Amino acid sequence: MSHAEDHEGTRRDFLYYATASAGAVAAGAAIWPLVNQMNPSADVQALSSIRVDVGGLSEGSQITVKWLGKPVFIRRRTAAEIEEARGVDVSDLPDPVARNNNIADQVPATDENRALDENGEWLVQMGVCTHLGCVPLNDAGDYVGPNGQGGWFCPCHGSHYDTSGRIRSGPAPENLPVPVAEFVEETTIKLG
Ligand code: FES
Repeated sequence: MSHAEDHEGTRRDFLYYATASAGAVAAGAAIWPLVNQMNPSADVQALSSIRVDVGGLSEGSQITVKWLGKPVFIRRRTAAEIEEARGVDVSDLPDPVARNNNIADQVPATDENRALDENGEWLVQMGVCTHLGCVPLNDAGDYVGPNGQGGWFCPCHGSHYDTSGRIRSGPAPENLPVPVAEFVEETTIKLG
């Protein structure tokens, strides 16, 4: 019996928000055993870093994992989402700062300064609205990418984030923060 199976049925609260589209739900279900491995018992919750296997994530879908008590969105973006994000003029943004904890200085909020990898396929960000802390919905809002993919909307008070997680309209003052993260294996991202 695998570690994941060993905990089957006891950790379902750990993945508490799945993406909305049918294809992405399938992807979410497929990767569930991987996310399920992150045992949220007290000793593990105390860890400042966790590893997430993203090998089962298809383009245009995301998972939400809980890290340090907060949701983190891990999204594998489509080429169209990336193109949309990289076509934005930073001077048009309400928050011109990248908010990326992997970069020491306050750098411009280009998509290149927010994505995890050079090609921009992976976007990792806190799933916490910078207004009052609600969890935004993915593939929603006024700044969804082509085909309705990407973008986030916080229905609490109407904040819209683009396909790079940057605030574009509504009361939220800042872009969704990018936590310390890196690929430590081909399909494994370490948070923290
Ligand atoms: S908490 Fe997101 S808009 Fe208010």
